[in-house]
Amino acid sequence: MRTQVGIVGAGPAGLLLAHLLQRDGIESIILEKRTRAYIEARIRAGVMEHWVAELVDEIGMGERMRREGLVHEGIEISFSGRRRRIDLKALTGGKSIMVYGQQEFVKDFVAARLAAGTPIRFEVGEVSVGDVTGNHPELRFTDGEGTPHRITCDFIAGCDGFHGVCRPAIPDLAIFERAYPFAWLGILAEAPPSSDELIYSSHDNGFALHSMRSPELTRLYLQVTPDEDIAEWPDDRIWAELQTRLTQDGDWRLSEGPVLQKGITPMRSFVCETMRHGRLFLAGDAAHIVPPTGAKGMNLAAADVLLLSRALAAYYKTGAITALDAYPARCLARIWKAQRFSWWMTSMLHIFPDQDEFGRRIQLAEIDFVTGHEAGARALAENYVGLPFDDEAPGP
Ligand code: FAD
Ligand code: DHB
Repeated sequence: MRTQVGIVGAGPAGLLLAHLLQRDGIESIILEKRTRAYIEARIRAGVMEHWVAELVDEIGMGERMRREGLVHEGIEISFSGRRRRIDLKALTGGKSIMVYGQQEFVKDFVAARLAAGTPIRFEVGEVSVGDVTGNHPELRFTDGEGTPHRITCDFIAGCDGFHGVCRPAIPDLAIFERAYPFAWLGILAEAPPSSDELIYSSHDNGFALHSMRSPELTRLYLQVTPDEDIAEWPDDRIWAELQTRLTQDGDWRLSEGPVLQKGITPMRSFVCETMRHGRLFLAGDAAHIVPPTGAKGMNLAAADVLLLSRALAAYYKTGAITALDAYPARCLARIWKAQRFSWWMTSMLHIFPDQDEFGRRIQLAEIDFVTGHEAGARALAENYVGLPFDDEAPGP
Protein backbone atom coordinates (compact mmCIF):
# COMPACT_ATOMS: atom_id res chain seq x y z
CA MET A 1 0.00 0.00 0.00
CA ARG A 2 1.05 3.58 -0.65
CA THR A 3 -0.29 6.95 0.38
CA GLN A 4 0.89 10.53 0.67
CA VAL A 5 0.16 11.06 4.38
CA GLY A 6 -0.25 8.11 6.75
CA ILE A 7 -2.28 9.20 9.77
CA VAL A 8 -2.22 7.26 13.05
CA GLY A 9 -5.38 7.83 15.12
CA ALA A 10 -8.99 8.69 14.25
CA GLY A 11 -9.55 11.22 17.03
CA PRO A 12 -10.41 14.85 16.26
CA ALA A 13 -6.80 15.55 15.15
CA GLY A 14 -6.49 12.68 12.67
CA LEU A 15 -9.99 13.06 11.22
CA LEU A 16 -9.77 16.83 10.76
CA LEU A 17 -6.30 16.51 9.23
CA ALA A 18 -7.51 13.96 6.67
CA HIS A 19 -10.40 16.25 5.77
CA LEU A 20 -8.21 19.36 5.36
CA LEU A 21 -5.68 17.41 3.28
CA GLN A 22 -8.33 16.09 0.96
CA ARG A 23 -9.48 19.64 0.26
CA ASP A 24 -5.97 20.32 -0.99
CA GLY A 25 -5.97 17.18 -3.13
CA ILE A 26 -3.66 15.24 -0.79
CA GLU A 27 -4.54 11.62 -0.09
CA SER A 28 -4.26 9.90 3.27
CA ILE A 29 -5.01 6.65 5.08
CA ILE A 30 -6.07 6.60 8.74
CA LEU A 31 -5.18 3.75 11.11
CA GLU A 32 -7.30 3.47 14.27
CA LYS A 33 -6.86 0.80 16.92
CA ARG A 34 -10.44 0.95 18.25
CA THR A 35 -13.76 0.15 16.59
CA ARG A 36 -15.84 2.83 14.91
CA ALA A 37 -18.58 2.36 17.53
CA TYR A 38 -16.05 2.87 20.34
CA ILE A 39 -14.62 6.15 19.06
CA GLU A 40 -18.07 7.48 18.23
CA ALA A 41 -19.30 6.85 21.79
CA ARG A 42 -16.24 8.10 23.71
CA ILE A 43 -17.39 11.14 25.70
CA ARG A 44 -14.74 13.79 26.18
CA ALA A 45 -14.50 17.49 25.43
CA GLY A 46 -17.50 19.68 24.73
CA VAL A 47 -16.38 23.23 23.96
CA MET A 48 -15.13 24.51 20.61
CA GLU A 49 -13.35 27.81 20.28
CA HIS A 50 -14.89 30.41 17.96
CA TRP A 51 -12.45 29.82 15.09
CA VAL A 52 -12.87 26.02 15.28
CA ALA A 53 -16.63 26.30 14.78
CA GLU A 54 -15.98 28.74 11.90
CA LEU A 55 -13.47 26.36 10.35
CA VAL A 56 -15.94 23.47 10.60
CA ASP A 57 -18.47 25.66 8.74
CA GLU A 58 -15.95 26.78 6.14
CA ILE A 59 -15.03 23.21 5.23
CA GLY A 60 -18.65 22.25 4.76
CA MET A 61 -19.01 20.22 7.96
CA GLY A 62 -21.12 22.56 10.04
CA GLU A 63 -24.65 21.51 9.21
CA ARG A 64 -25.42 19.25 12.20
CA MET A 65 -23.22 21.32 14.52
CA ARG A 66 -25.23 24.48 13.68
CA ARG A 67 -28.50 22.57 14.15
CA GLU A 68 -27.69 20.69 17.36
CA GLY A 69 -24.77 22.60 18.90
CA LEU A 70 -25.33 25.40 21.38
CA VAL A 71 -23.71 28.80 20.84
CA HIS A 72 -22.76 30.40 24.16
CA GLU A 73 -21.95 34.09 24.41
CA GLY A 74 -20.88 34.01 28.05
CA ILE A 75 -19.80 31.82 30.96
CA GLU A 76 -20.42 32.18 34.66
CA ILE A 77 -18.07 31.91 37.60
CA SER A 78 -19.42 31.15 41.05
CA PHE A 79 -17.46 31.86 44.25
CA SER A 80 -17.95 33.19 47.79
CA GLY A 81 -21.73 32.81 47.57
CA ARG A 82 -22.14 34.78 44.32
CA ARG A 83 -22.08 34.23 40.60
CA ARG A 84 -20.67 36.58 37.98
CA ARG A 85 -20.94 36.44 34.21
CA ILE A 86 -18.07 36.85 31.78
CA ASP A 87 -19.62 38.34 28.65
CA LEU A 88 -17.48 36.60 26.03
CA LYS A 89 -19.17 38.29 23.10
CA ALA A 90 -18.89 41.85 24.40
CA LEU A 91 -15.31 41.38 25.60
CA THR A 92 -13.95 39.80 22.42
CA GLY A 93 -15.55 41.85 19.67
CA GLY A 94 -18.36 39.42 18.97
CA LYS A 95 -16.84 35.98 19.51
CA SER A 96 -18.56 33.05 21.20
CA ILE A 97 -18.01 29.34 21.86
CA MET A 98 -19.83 26.32 20.44
CA VAL A 99 -20.93 23.58 22.84
CA TYR A 100 -20.91 20.44 20.69
CA GLY A 101 -19.67 17.11 22.02
CA GLN A 102 -16.38 15.78 20.73
CA GLN A 103 -18.03 12.46 19.90
CA GLU A 104 -20.53 14.26 17.66
CA PHE A 105 -17.63 15.95 15.85
CA VAL A 106 -15.99 12.51 15.50
CA LYS A 107 -19.23 10.98 14.13
CA ASP A 108 -19.60 13.78 11.55
CA PHE A 109 -16.01 13.49 10.36
CA VAL A 110 -15.90 9.68 10.24
CA ALA A 111 -19.04 9.69 8.06
CA ALA A 112 -17.65 12.40 5.77
CA ARG A 113 -14.24 10.71 5.39
CA LEU A 114 -15.78 7.34 4.58
CA ALA A 115 -18.20 8.94 2.11
CA ALA A 116 -15.29 10.70 0.40
CA GLY A 117 -13.33 7.47 0.12
CA THR A 118 -10.56 8.05 2.69
CA PRO A 119 -9.62 4.59 3.95
CA ILE A 120 -10.03 4.35 7.73
CA ARG A 121 -8.68 1.01 8.98
CA PHE A 122 -10.36 0.35 12.32
CA GLU A 123 -9.20 -2.22 14.89
CA VAL A 124 -5.62 -2.35 13.67
CA GLY A 125 -2.97 -3.89 15.93
CA GLU A 126 0.78 -3.65 16.48
CA VAL A 127 1.08 -0.25 14.82
CA SER A 128 4.64 1.00 14.41
CA VAL A 129 6.46 3.61 12.33
CA GLY A 130 9.70 2.95 10.43
CA ASP A 131 12.31 4.81 8.36
CA VAL A 132 10.97 8.21 9.38
CA THR A 133 14.30 9.92 8.72
CA GLY A 134 14.36 8.61 5.14
CA ASN A 135 12.26 9.78 2.20
CA HIS A 136 9.72 6.95 2.42
CA PRO A 137 8.61 6.37 5.99
CA GLU A 138 6.51 3.29 6.65
CA LEU A 139 3.49 2.50 8.74
CA ARG A 140 3.27 -1.12 9.86
CA PHE A 141 0.24 -2.77 11.42
CA THR A 142 -1.78 -5.95 11.64
CA ASP A 143 -5.44 -6.25 10.64
CA GLY A 144 -8.28 -7.94 12.52
CA GLU A 145 -7.05 -11.39 11.40
CA GLY A 146 -3.51 -10.67 12.58
CA THR A 147 -2.14 -10.35 9.01
CA PRO A 148 0.75 -7.84 8.84
CA HIS A 149 0.62 -4.85 6.42
CA ARG A 150 2.89 -1.98 5.45
CA ILE A 151 2.02 1.42 4.02
CA THR A 152 4.73 3.46 2.34
CA CYS A 153 4.10 7.17 2.89
CA ASP A 154 5.62 10.54 2.09
CA PHE A 155 4.84 11.72 5.63
CA ILE A 156 3.38 10.27 8.83
CA ALA A 157 1.12 12.26 11.14
CA GLY A 158 1.11 10.94 14.71
CA CYS A 159 -2.42 11.82 15.85
CA ASP A 160 -2.61 8.83 18.19
CA GLY A 161 -3.25 10.59 21.49
CA PHE A 162 -1.30 10.55 24.72
CA HIS A 163 -0.80 6.76 24.88
CA GLY A 164 0.05 6.28 21.20
CA VAL A 165 3.12 4.85 19.52
CA CYS A 166 4.33 7.88 17.54
CA ARG A 167 5.74 10.07 20.32
CA PRO A 168 7.93 7.21 21.69
CA ALA A 169 9.40 6.86 18.16
CA ILE A 170 11.07 10.28 18.51
CA PRO A 171 14.49 10.12 20.24
CA ASP A 172 15.77 12.69 22.76
CA LEU A 173 12.50 14.48 23.42
CA ALA A 174 12.43 17.17 26.08
CA ILE A 175 9.38 16.59 28.29
CA PHE A 176 7.79 19.31 30.41
CA GLU A 177 5.07 18.16 32.78
CA ARG A 178 3.08 18.80 35.89
CA ALA A 179 0.66 16.47 37.70
CA TYR A 180 -2.12 18.07 39.77
CA PRO A 181 -3.12 16.75 43.19
CA PHE A 182 -6.73 16.17 42.06
CA ALA A 183 -8.88 14.67 39.30
CA TRP A 184 -12.33 15.35 37.82
CA LEU A 185 -15.28 13.04 38.33
CA GLY A 186 -17.53 13.66 35.31
CA ILE A 187 -21.12 12.59 34.75
CA LEU A 188 -23.51 12.80 31.83
CA ALA A 189 -27.07 13.09 33.15
CA GLU A 190 -30.45 12.91 31.52
CA ALA A 191 -31.54 16.23 32.95
CA PRO A 192 -32.10 19.61 31.32
CA PRO A 193 -29.28 22.10 31.97
CA SER A 194 -30.09 24.19 35.04
CA SER A 195 -28.65 27.36 33.55
CA ASP A 196 -28.28 28.58 29.97
CA GLU A 197 -24.50 28.85 30.31
CA LEU A 198 -21.53 26.98 31.76
CA ILE A 199 -20.89 27.58 35.46
CA TYR A 200 -17.36 27.22 36.82
CA SER A 201 -17.62 27.09 40.60
CA SER A 202 -14.84 27.48 43.17
CA HIS A 203 -16.17 26.19 46.51
CA ASP A 204 -14.34 25.42 49.76
CA ASN A 205 -15.20 21.71 49.21
CA GLY A 206 -13.55 21.83 45.76
CA PHE A 207 -14.20 22.85 42.18
CA ALA A 208 -17.37 21.96 40.22
CA LEU A 209 -18.51 22.63 36.65
CA HIS A 210 -21.96 22.74 35.10
CA SER A 211 -21.90 22.11 31.36
CA MET A 212 -24.25 20.52 28.87
CA ARG A 213 -24.55 18.60 25.65
CA SER A 214 -28.12 19.42 24.57
CA PRO A 215 -31.34 20.87 26.00
CA GLU A 216 -31.93 17.40 27.55
CA LEU A 217 -28.42 16.41 28.66
CA THR A 218 -26.27 17.93 31.40
CA ARG A 219 -22.53 17.32 31.76
CA LEU A 220 -21.23 17.94 35.27
CA TYR A 221 -17.84 17.65 36.92
CA LEU A 222 -16.54 17.54 40.51
CA GLN A 223 -13.00 17.93 41.76
CA VAL A 224 -12.00 14.70 43.58
CA THR A 225 -8.70 13.22 44.77
CA PRO A 226 -6.51 11.61 42.05
CA ASP A 227 -6.80 8.10 43.54
CA GLU A 228 -10.56 8.37 44.09
CA ASP A 229 -12.48 5.09 43.80
CA ILE A 230 -15.58 5.67 41.67
CA ALA A 231 -17.38 2.99 43.71
CA GLU A 232 -17.28 5.46 46.62
CA TRP A 233 -19.42 7.85 44.59
CA PRO A 234 -22.97 6.51 44.26
CA ASP A 235 -25.26 8.85 42.31
CA ASP A 236 -26.85 10.31 45.49
CA ARG A 237 -23.49 11.42 46.80
CA ILE A 238 -22.54 12.96 43.45
CA TRP A 239 -25.78 14.96 43.25
CA ALA A 240 -25.51 16.12 46.87
CA GLU A 241 -21.96 17.37 46.33
CA LEU A 242 -22.86 19.02 43.00
CA GLN A 243 -25.77 20.80 44.69
CA THR A 244 -23.50 22.06 47.47
CA ARG A 245 -20.73 23.30 45.21
CA LEU A 246 -22.77 24.69 42.31
CA THR A 247 -25.69 26.39 44.06
CA GLN A 248 -23.68 28.50 46.50
CA ASP A 249 -25.09 31.69 45.00
CA GLY A 250 -28.74 31.41 46.04
CA ASP A 251 -31.63 29.07 46.61
CA TRP A 252 -31.90 27.62 43.10
CA ARG A 253 -31.36 23.86 42.65
CA LEU A 254 -29.68 21.83 39.94
CA SER A 255 -32.14 19.67 38.04
CA GLU A 256 -31.26 16.02 38.58
CA GLY A 257 -31.87 12.96 36.45
CA PRO A 258 -30.58 9.47 35.64
CA VAL A 259 -26.78 9.29 35.35
CA LEU A 260 -26.00 7.86 31.91
CA GLN A 261 -22.24 7.76 32.22
CA LYS A 262 -19.60 8.51 34.84
CA GLY A 263 -15.81 8.44 34.97
CA ILE A 264 -12.73 9.94 36.59
CA THR A 265 -10.11 11.86 34.57
CA PRO A 266 -6.68 12.56 36.04
CA MET A 267 -5.29 16.03 35.42
CA ARG A 268 -1.90 16.90 34.06
CA SER A 269 -0.01 19.37 31.93
CA PHE A 270 2.41 17.81 29.44
CA VAL A 271 4.36 19.18 26.49
CA CYS A 272 7.02 17.44 24.44
CA GLU A 273 9.53 19.33 22.40
CA THR A 274 9.95 18.88 19.58
CA MET A 275 6.97 17.66 17.55
CA ARG A 276 8.83 16.32 14.53
CA HIS A 277 11.40 13.70 13.66
CA GLY A 278 12.30 13.49 9.97
CA ARG A 279 9.02 12.87 8.19
CA LEU A 280 7.04 12.06 11.33
CA PHE A 281 4.95 14.94 12.74
CA LEU A 282 3.03 14.83 16.02
CA ALA A 283 -0.31 16.61 16.50
CA GLY A 284 -2.86 16.91 19.32
CA ASP A 285 -2.72 14.86 22.53
CA ALA A 286 0.19 12.85 21.09
CA ALA A 287 2.34 15.92 21.78
CA HIS A 288 0.60 17.71 24.65
CA ILE A 289 -2.01 17.39 27.37
CA VAL A 290 -3.73 20.21 29.22
CA PRO A 291 -5.82 19.97 32.40
CA PRO A 292 -9.46 20.25 31.27
CA THR A 293 -10.29 23.54 33.07
CA GLY A 294 -10.78 26.00 30.22
CA ALA A 295 -11.55 23.32 27.61
CA LYS A 296 -8.45 23.65 25.46
CA GLY A 297 -7.58 19.99 24.61
CA MET A 298 -9.57 19.46 21.45
CA ASN A 299 -9.03 23.04 20.29
CA LEU A 300 -5.25 22.66 20.45
CA ALA A 301 -5.51 19.45 18.44
CA ALA A 302 -7.44 21.39 15.77
CA ALA A 303 -4.85 24.20 15.74
CA ASP A 304 -1.97 21.74 15.26
CA VAL A 305 -3.57 19.99 12.31
CA LEU A 306 -4.62 23.23 10.66
CA LEU A 307 -0.97 24.33 10.68
CA LEU A 308 0.23 20.88 9.59
CA SER A 309 -2.23 20.70 6.71
CA ARG A 310 -1.12 24.14 5.48
CA ALA A 311 2.56 23.15 5.66
CA LEU A 312 1.90 19.90 3.78
CA ALA A 313 -0.18 21.73 1.16
CA ALA A 314 2.70 24.20 0.62
CA TYR A 315 5.10 21.29 0.21
CA TYR A 316 2.95 19.48 -2.36
CA LYS A 317 2.26 22.68 -4.26
CA THR A 318 5.77 24.10 -4.50
CA GLY A 319 8.18 21.58 -2.97
CA ALA A 320 9.01 24.13 -0.25
CA ILE A 321 9.84 22.69 3.16
CA THR A 322 10.05 25.95 5.11
CA ALA A 323 6.55 25.62 6.55
CA LEU A 324 7.18 21.99 7.53
CA ASP A 325 10.41 23.03 9.25
CA ALA A 326 8.57 25.80 11.08
CA TYR A 327 5.68 23.54 12.18
CA PRO A 328 6.90 22.67 15.70
CA ALA A 329 7.81 26.25 16.64
CA ARG A 330 4.54 27.64 15.31
CA CYS A 331 2.49 25.06 17.20
CA LEU A 332 4.48 25.35 20.39
CA ALA A 333 3.97 29.13 20.57
CA ARG A 334 0.22 28.49 20.72
CA ILE A 335 0.48 25.35 22.87
CA TRP A 336 2.39 27.11 25.64
CA LYS A 337 -0.19 29.92 25.76
CA ALA A 338 -2.96 27.33 26.12
CA GLN A 339 -0.90 25.50 28.73
CA ARG A 340 -0.53 28.71 30.70
CA PHE A 341 -4.25 29.48 30.50
CA SER A 342 -5.29 25.94 31.52
CA TRP A 343 -2.79 25.89 34.41
CA TRP A 344 -3.99 29.33 35.54
CA MET A 345 -7.72 28.46 35.41
CA THR A 346 -6.98 25.20 37.22
CA SER A 347 -4.88 26.89 39.92
CA MET A 348 -7.37 29.69 40.45
CA LEU A 349 -10.49 27.51 40.78
CA HIS A 350 -9.43 24.28 42.57
CA ILE A 351 -8.69 23.62 46.24
CA PHE A 352 -5.14 22.33 46.72
CA PRO A 353 -4.55 19.79 49.53
CA ASP A 354 -1.71 21.83 51.08
CA GLN A 355 -3.48 25.16 50.68
CA ASP A 356 -3.76 27.40 53.76
CA GLU A 357 -6.25 30.19 54.47
CA PHE A 358 -3.87 32.77 53.00
CA GLY A 359 -3.77 30.82 49.73
CA ARG A 360 -7.57 30.55 49.63
CA ARG A 361 -8.02 34.29 50.26
CA ILE A 362 -5.59 35.09 47.42
CA GLN A 363 -7.54 32.75 45.07
CA LEU A 364 -10.86 34.39 45.97
CA ALA A 365 -9.36 37.86 45.47
CA GLU A 366 -8.11 36.79 42.05
CA ILE A 367 -11.53 35.45 41.01
CA ASP A 368 -13.11 38.67 42.31
CA PHE A 369 -10.64 40.71 40.21
CA VAL A 370 -11.04 38.60 37.08
CA THR A 371 -14.84 38.65 37.22
CA GLY A 372 -15.21 42.21 38.51
CA HIS A 373 -12.84 44.24 36.34
CA GLU A 374 -12.94 44.55 32.61
CA ALA A 375 -9.20 44.07 32.13
CA GLY A 376 -9.27 40.79 34.06
CA ALA A 377 -12.45 39.56 32.39
CA ARG A 378 -11.16 40.43 28.92
CA ALA A 379 -7.94 38.45 29.41
CA LEU A 380 -9.98 35.40 30.42
CA ALA A 381 -12.50 35.88 27.61
CA GLU A 382 -9.90 36.24 24.84
CA ASN A 383 -8.15 33.06 25.91
CA TYR A 384 -11.44 31.20 26.37
CA VAL A 385 -12.84 31.88 22.89
CA GLY A 386 -9.41 31.11 21.37
CA LEU A 387 -6.43 33.39 20.78
CA PRO A 388 -5.80 34.59 17.25
CA PHE A 389 -3.13 32.71 15.31
CA ASP A 390 0.12 34.51 16.02
CA ASP A 391 1.72 35.77 12.85
CA GLU A 392 4.75 36.80 14.89
CA ALA A 393 5.47 33.17 15.79
CA PRO A 394 8.51 31.73 14.03
CA GLY A 395 7.76 30.46 10.56
CA PRO A 396 6.29 31.64 7.27
P1 FAD B 1 -7.51 11.45 20.81
O1 FAD B 1 -8.88 11.99 20.84
O2 FAD B 1 -6.97 10.77 22.02
O3 FAD B 1 -7.40 10.50 19.56
C1 FAD B 1 -6.33 9.61 19.36
C2 FAD B 1 -6.83 8.40 18.60
O4 FAD B 1 -5.73 7.54 18.33
C3 FAD B 1 -7.81 7.58 19.40
O5 FAD B 1 -8.95 7.30 18.62
C4 FAD B 1 -7.05 6.32 19.77
O6 FAD B 1 -7.89 5.19 19.88
C5 FAD B 1 -6.10 6.21 18.60
N1 FAD B 1 -4.86 5.46 18.87
C6 FAD B 1 -4.11 5.46 19.99
N2 FAD B 1 -3.04 4.66 19.84
C7 FAD B 1 -3.12 4.14 18.60
C8 FAD B 1 -2.32 3.25 17.86
N3 FAD B 1 -1.20 2.71 18.39
N4 FAD B 1 -2.68 2.92 16.63
C9 FAD B 1 -3.81 3.45 16.07
N5 FAD B 1 -4.62 4.31 16.72
C10 FAD B 1 -4.27 4.65 17.96
N6 FAD B 1 -10.66 18.19 26.69
C11 FAD B 1 -11.40 19.23 26.94
O7 FAD B 1 -11.14 20.28 26.38
N7 FAD B 1 -12.48 19.13 27.79
C12 FAD B 1 -12.82 17.95 28.39
O8 FAD B 1 -13.79 17.88 29.13
C13 FAD B 1 -12.03 16.83 28.15
N8 FAD B 1 -12.30 15.65 28.74
C14 FAD B 1 -11.50 14.60 28.49
C15 FAD B 1 -11.76 13.39 29.10
C16 FAD B 1 -10.93 12.28 28.90
C17 FAD B 1 -11.22 10.97 29.60
C18 FAD B 1 -9.79 12.43 28.06
C19 FAD B 1 -8.85 11.26 27.84
C20 FAD B 1 -9.56 13.64 27.43
C21 FAD B 1 -10.39 14.73 27.64
N9 FAD B 1 -10.16 15.95 27.01
C22 FAD B 1 -10.94 17.00 27.27
C23 FAD B 1 -9.10 16.16 26.06
C24 FAD B 1 -9.59 16.04 24.62
O9 FAD B 1 -10.55 15.03 24.54
C25 FAD B 1 -8.37 15.75 23.77
O10 FAD B 1 -7.50 16.86 23.87
C26 FAD B 1 -8.69 15.44 22.31
O11 FAD B 1 -9.38 14.23 22.23
C27 FAD B 1 -7.40 15.37 21.50
O12 FAD B 1 -7.65 14.82 20.25
P2 FAD B 1 -6.58 13.90 19.54
O13 FAD B 1 -7.18 13.53 18.24
O14 FAD B 1 -5.25 14.53 19.58
O15 FAD B 1 -6.43 12.61 20.46
C1 DHB C 1 -16.53 20.92 29.34
C2 DHB C 1 -15.30 20.48 29.72
C3 DHB C 1 -14.37 21.40 30.17
O1 DHB C 1 -13.15 21.00 30.52
C4 DHB C 1 -14.66 22.74 30.26
O2 DHB C 1 -13.74 23.60 30.73
C5 DHB C 1 -15.89 23.17 29.86
C6 DHB C 1 -16.84 22.24 29.40
C7 DHB C 1 -17.51 19.93 28.85
O3 DHB C 1 -17.20 18.73 28.85
O4 DHB C 1 -18.63 20.32 28.50
